[in-house]
Amino acid sequence: MKKISFISLSIIFWVWLTIVIYFNYKNPELKWNWSTIDTKSFVFPENFIWGTATSAHQVEGGNVNNNWYVFENGFKSNNIPNIHNGDKSGLASNHWNLYLEDIQLMKELGVDHYRFSIEWSKIEPKKGFFDNSAMDHYKKKIDALIKNDIIPVVTLHHFSNPIWFEEKGAFEKSENIMDFVDFSEFVFKKFSDSVLFWCTINEPMVYVSEGYFNAEFPPGKRDPVLASKVLKNMLNAHVLVYRSLKSMPNGNNVKIGMVKNIFQFDPFNRLNALDLYMSSLLNDIFTNEPIRFLKEGKSTFFMPGLVNDDINNNEAPGSLDFIGLNYYSRFHVKGKMNPNEPFVFQIRKKDTQTDMNYPIYPEGIYKALKTISKLNVPIYITENGVADSSDQIRSKFIDRYLYATNKALLEGVEVKGYFYWTLMDNFEWAKGYSMKFGLYEVDFTTQERKLRTGSKSLINIIKRSKAQIE
Ligand code: GCO
Repeated sequence: MKKISFISLSIIFWVWLTIVIYFNYKNPELKWNWSTIDTKSFVFPENFIWGTATSAHQVEGGNVNNNWYVFENGFKSNNIPNIHNGDKSGLASNHWNLYLEDIQLMKELGVDHYRFSIEWSKIEPKKGFFDNSAMDHYKKKIDALIKNDIIPVVTLHHFSNPIWFEEKGAFEKSENIMDFVDFSEFVFKKFSDSVLFWCTINEPMVYVSEGYFNAEFPPGKRDPVLASKVLKNMLNAHVLVYRSLKSMPNGNNVKIGMVKNIFQFDPFNRLNALDLYMSSLLNDIFTNEPIRFLKEGKSTFFMPGLVNDDINNNEAPGSLDFIGLNYYSRFHVKGKMNPNEPFVFQIRKKDTQTDMNYPIYPEGIYKALKTISKLNVPIYITENGVADSSDQIRSKFIDRYLYATNKALLEGVEVKGYFYWTLMDNFEWAKGYSMKFGLYEVDFTTQERKLRTGSKSLINIIKRSKAQIE
């Protein structure tokens, strides 16, 4: 009896040890000693691109024809509003009317690019009906940017869908993909002579995880099988849009890419086999497999016992002129022996948390750059920023994340630009107006904008990078 339990104990020990060694080797902890690092003097090359980023629904105001408008007016099953505090996007930052003023704010920062999205529900409020006055508005905005020496970077899909598209099942159905292709072609035809940078879809995996796992975004579902289907359709939609726009006039003069969010999943306890396994699984679903899709046209969406789906498309390789990287932070995963809740995210006492409850982890942007560089295309950091209402950590955040970006660049990663998220405070999706990501603080009763002190770090980095060449 004793002998058997000794044998099984040693098997358990060796299995555990193999798992621990394997996963720690595959995904080692990266931690720098910041007290020995100078984050105040690094500079970026002359041709490095500097920008800020926003998305239409979060800043424009007046969006009453999209899925978010419906969601903002809805409740969770326990009668709690879908959005924190019952907030509604409403007028948002009134960027629709104040864009000229906002362009001046960009100039004050010293940035030379602006990433924004075109609101599909404003352009095509009903299927097949394209609103020319909304197009005129975007045309004026694009012209004003160019006149002010700010290069426009357009995102075609940033989380929001027209209601008619949502009602017919949005990206849950492959037959709906063509609706998005039609809209993209329409916009591209009008603006491809003045817009040189195009992002097809923003963060497909965030759209999927928030809309179909966590029920934090519309349509508020929790369905892993459907999630995998939606991801498949979104990735295929990117490929179709890329191929189609490339074949249109100006297609070869512009750069078209997709925006990928990387949020690393690290084990809460590096000696716990379940934490290690679950975090590795989540990294595969969220990042490694979508990257493999873009690179090789093949990927798998695998969650043990729930879904095991192949997502293949041989048109996918070569469908990127660049990749946009959005990076904020990482999660620490605690695996659980519970099929209904196989993991939770745990906060570590030693970390400094942002208002979003993300740890500050500059090493992560360096790691994410190395990961995304496997695609072998130029990289633009299309979003990076911090929610910090007290403005206590913004400056340090900017210095450290940009130091880490610079380090990757010096080591040969082809990172060509950095867009700060975000220009001014805005409607942060399910978190409503509670999150203050803005370089400029917005008073939402007067719509007055005010530069935050911490934002000066970004201004300084841009200034000193440009000063070396003047
Ligand atoms: C995203 C979106 C942005 C968010 C930002 C801050 O990354 O989720 O692209 O719309 O506002 O990331 O959370």
